[in-house]
Amino acid sequence: MTPVVEAREVYKSYIKDSSPPIEVLRGISLKVQQGEFLAIMGPSGAGKSTLLHIMGLIDRPTRGEVALKGKETNSMGDEERAYLRNRLLGFVFQAHYLLPEFTALENVAIPLIIRGEKGTRALNEAAQVLEKVGLETRLHHKPGELSGGEQQRVAIARALVHNPALLLADEPTGNLDRERGIQLMELLLSLHREKGMTVILVTHDPLLASMAQRVIKLVDGRLSSGKESLSPSRA
Ligand SMILES: Nc1ncnc2c1ncn2[C@@H]1O[C@H](COP(=O)(O)OP(=O)(O)O)[C@@H](O)[C@H]1O
Ligand SMILES: [Mg+2]
Repeated sequence: MTPVVEAREVYKSYIKDSSPPIEVLRGISLKVQQGEFLAIMGPSGAGKSTLLHIMGLIDRPTRGEVALKGKETNSMGDEERAYLRNRLLGFVFQAHYLLPEFTALENVAIPLIIRGEKGTRALNEAAQVLEKVGLETRLHHKPGELSGGEQQRVAIARALVHNPALLLADEPTGNLDRERGIQLMELLLSLHREKGMTVILVTHDPLLASMAQRVIKLVDGRLSSGKESLSPSRA
C-alpha cells in the first residue's frame, strides 16, 4: 500500500552566520500508512517540529525525499506544494492561531471559502465539524470567549473541515492542563476510529503517546521505535 506520507533519509541542517551548521535531523526514514495514529516523542529541541514541518511540506529537507501519497515533493515548486498542503493536510499547533475577531463558526468556515466554496455551504459544513468536536453550543463565540480546550477544539475543527488525508498535530495539548489534554487526545482518537483519519501527533507526554497505535522517538536526530523505549517526560 502506498503510504500517506513517507520520509526517506531526511536530513535537515540549520546554518546561522559563520557558526558550524546544526544538524537537527540525521537520516530520518519513516512511512505512515493510511489510518495509522502515530505519536512522535522526544525531548525539547530534538527536532520534532522540524520533522513535522518537513513531512507537512511547510519546510524542505536539506537532503532526502518526502513523498505524499506516493508523489515525490522535493522537486515541486512552492505553489504545487502549497496546493497539496491545502488539499491533503490539516495542521494543529500548540498555539491555535484562530482569528480573534471572527466567531468559531467563521474561523472554521474561512479555509473553505478561501478554497472557493460558497459562504452558506461553507458555514453549514463548518457547523457540522464543530458539532463533531462537541462545540455545537459555541458556534457564535469568539476565541476570547472560549476556554483553552475549546479554542484547541475549534483549531481541530478548522484542520478537519476539508477532510484532509493526514492530520499533523504539533503538541496540541501543550497549553492545556492534564485533564483537558487527555480530553483532546480522546477526541483525536475518536476521529481516528470513526473516520479512519491518519494522524501524526507530536508530544513529549508519555501518557498521551501511549494512547497512540505506534510510538517513535526522536533522539539525536534519529528515530528509535517501540513503546518499550518510552521514558518519563523531560520537558
Ligand atoms: N529556523 C531555524 N533556524 C535555526 N535553528 C533552528 C530553526 N528551527 C529550529 N532550529 C533548531 O533546531 C532544533 C530543533 O528544533 P525543533 O524542531 O523546534 O525541536 P522540537 O520541536 O523537538 O522542540 C533546535 O535546536 C532549534 O534551535
Ligand atoms: Mg516543537
